Amino acid sequence: MAAATKFLIILTILSLSVLVPDGSPINETQSALSLSSLQDDGESKVKENDITLARIEEQLAKARGKIRNAIVKRSFTSSPKDRSLFPKRTVYKNPFAFFQSHTEMMKTFKIWTYKEGDAPLMHDGPMKLVYSIEGDFIEEMEREGNPIVANHPDEAHAFFIPLSVTNIVHYLFTPEEAWGFRERMQAILEDYIKVIAEKYPYWNRSNGADHFYVSCHDWGPVVSTGNPKLFKNFIRVLCNANSSEGFDPSRDVSMTESTAPFNNIPVVSSGHSPYNRSIFAFFAGGIHGDVRKRLFEHWGNNEDKDIQVYNYLPKGENHTEWLSKSKYCLSPSGYEVATSRLTEAIYVGCVPVIIKKNYVIPYNDVLDWSQFSVQVPVDDIPNLKKILQDIPFSKYLEMQKRLIEVQRHFAVNIPAKPFDVFHMIFHSVWLRRLNVRLLKS
Ligand SMILES: *[C@@H]1O[C@H](CO)[C@@H](O)[C@H](O)[C@H]1NC(C)=O
Ligand SMILES: *[C@@H]1O[C@H](CO)[C@@H](O)[C@H](O)[C@H]1NC(C)=O
Ligand SMILES: *[C@@H]1O[C@H](CO)[C@@H](O)[C@H](O)[C@H]1NC(C)=O
Ligand SMILES: *[C@@H]1O[C@H](CO)[C@@H](O)[C@H](O)[C@H]1NC(C)=O
Ligand SMILES: *[C@@H]1O[C@H](CO)[C@@H](O)[C@H](O)[C@H]1NC(C)=O
Repeated sequence: MAAATKFLIILTILSLSVLVPDGSPINETQSALSLSSLQDDGESKVKENDITLARIEEQLAKARGKIRNAIVKRSFTSSPKDRSLFPKRTVYKNPFAFFQSHTEMMKTFKIWTYKEGDAPLMHDGPMKLVYSIEGDFIEEMEREGNPIVANHPDEAHAFFIPLSVTNIVHYLFTPEEAWGFRERMQAILEDYIKVIAEKYPYWNRSNGADHFYVSCHDWGPVVSTGNPKLFKNFIRVLCNANSSEGFDPSRDVSMTESTAPFNNIPVVSSGHSPYNRSIFAFFAGGIHGDVRKRLFEHWGNNEDKDIQVYNYLPKGENHTEWLSKSKYCLSPSGYEVATSRLTEAIYVGCVPVIIKKNYVIPYNDVLDWSQFSVQVPVDDIPNLKKILQDIPFSKYLEMQKRLIEVQRHFAVNIPAKPFDVFHMIFHSVWLRRLNVRLLKS
């Protein structure tokens, strides 16, 4: 392999903290590879690939500059249509940075989906039940006319590997062959990467730093843990964002889990008025995992009408209806850190109470979750009632209002709509791509 085709990754400048007001400014002078410097090259033997990459990096540098300006000037430039969406309340860590960044993303960002591989393990995924976002995402990325899809990989800023962990488990896992299954799953992804790294220049030039896969399955992280060297920079978009199992928020993306019960697309509503929610705090669901065990230990006997915790609702009762008439909806981690109870609460305007440990909550580069949710450490489960009762009603009303404002960021639409959950996922990948600069070595 010729030395000239080797590129370095510079993890720097645009740290994700750019989205908070005092984020350190971007150092444009570090942009070592520019189109003009390449074209001025006396040798004039400049490689096609170098120019392609330089063009991509120049586009990203421009976007970084615009975002930095928005942060410094506390304003943003966009179309009037976007402007009408600009919220008056702040549910964002830095609304100027986010709106500018989203605008730049819409203008610039292109993702290439690799064509290699066959359904159902690739190019297909579940579009029902708890892991549905995995299949929905693949569907959206392969939808003709999706404006974020690159027409040619040379114009892409990021590369999507359309593999479905849920389908791999569904089609290949048998209890009799459980032994070694982890390694077999890992081999599927590693083989895939071998193929695309042989065939195209893109994986090698970034060592995977502009490549990503998306999985909502509990075992989503497992496929990429077999070969730490190969996957050092690879972006993993996961529901199971467990920071004590190697989830790294500066590289990986935490994604929401949503259940799609009746058709494929969950419905968003405002639920009951915040003045007319008769249940104070509510949960119904399986006693999965340690967090829920502790919740049931303390609150599962339902002696206290303020904290209603059920394994099963009484027969004939409608879960969505209960959520929508509750003020607070408990969202404790289950077998894995993420739970669809979180999005179910958001979809009906019930302020979520996230009971967690080691869970990196979704889209928190951008969203200020404290404005529309309550976070309770697992060890505080016994104090749950007091914690919630100490929140003044006026504060609750404020949170509930803000929750209604962020609902759109969790809504699933195919085709994707601006600021919906797919845009939040795209934007999370976009940020991580902005955070990396590929240089000619
Ligand atoms: C920007 O980067 C250049 C080259 O690495 C360095 O010399 C300079 O001090 C940096 N400037 C700031 C403001 O960090
Ligand atoms: C990428 O690197 C691998 C491992 O060094 C090598 O086998 C492969 O041929 C390279 N791909 C290209 C397109 O040069
Ligand atoms: C209040 O909620 C109850 C059900 O809990 C519903 O029957 C009633 O119509 C609601 N009232 C208002 C004013 O929304
Ligand atoms: C349950 O309640 C929700 C919200 O009130 C409603 O939209 C839905 O149709 C109900 N589902 C069933 C199965 O009755
Ligand atoms: C997160 O990972 C740790 C370490 O493997 C594990 O002990 C814990 O159960 C996980 N949390 C959840 C909710 O799965």
